[in-house]
Amino acid sequence: MLSASDLRSGYGIGDVLQSFELAIEAGEVVSVLGRNGVGKTTLMKTLIGLLPARRGRIEYQGQDITALGAFRRARLGIGYVPQGRGIFPHMTVRDNLRMGGMVNENRRSLDFEAVFGYFPFLRERLAQRGGTLSGGQQAMLAIARALINEPDLLLLDEPSDGVQPSVVQELGGFIGTLNRDKGLTVLIVEQNIDLVQTVAQRAYVLDKGTVVAELDRNELESTERVAAYLAV
Ligand SMILES: Nc1ncnc2c1ncn2[C@@H]1O[C@H](COP(=O)(O)OP(=O)(O)OP(=O)(O)O)[C@@H](O)[C@H]1O
Ligand SMILES: [Mg+2]
Repeated sequence: MLSASDLRSGYGIGDVLQSFELAIEAGEVVSVLGRNGVGKTTLMKTLIGLLPARRGRIEYQGQDITALGAFRRARLGIGYVPQGRGIFPHMTVRDNLRMGGMVNENRRSLDFEAVFGYFPFLRERLAQRGGTLSGGQQAMLAIARALINEPDLLLLDEPSDGVQPSVVQELGGFIGTLNRDKGLTVLIVEQNIDLVQTVAQRAYVLDKGTVVAELDRNELESTERVAAYLAV
């Protein structure tokens, strides 16, 4: 469904990602693990098209999307939840969801009901400002905002960031449900071992902008092994 080959990108004169490779099949939940500053967000921005690839190729559903901008990629069915969530704190929950739906030109009325099916609490919060939701609720709003476009692939950049541990489990439950019920393919960048172990079928370990290891489901279950890759 998504592949990146020999990917390079960065800022200014420096490259962050180098010779990066990844391939995800439809229906998978795959994680990218890595310590602070190794290039996880840079990877996500390059995959969604907010940062240009300086070299290499990105394919989505058999199509070369390397030269397409973020908006075009979103229209092809790639949803993106940025690190820190990027919700609009002064806008209501309803307007946050509508903003997400702007990507979708085919839809006159957005399917709020489908999103409430996954996140029922949002129904009662429609008039509340986004910034007044709890961290966990904001994470869910950010996911809901991406889901309103009915993406086939969801890119999640550290959704557990700023979410209390008990709610991280809940978040994992939602991601698992979306994968099973909607067949949503998920690429999730994380440092939270619990969440990765809950949702991911396999993982890439990123270090200094490149893949240094690949972990299957069995290897992911070894907390010591995973923690070793995340240790400073
Ligand atoms: N806009 C930017 N301009 C210049 N350098 C940047 C920019 N954004 C990130 N960097 C640098 O690129 C490198 C990778 O950053 P990136 O945000 O991709 O890491 P990360 O793995 O997502 O980290 P974290 O776990 O803290 O979110 C870091 O050295 C960072 O300082
Ligand atoms: Mg990051």
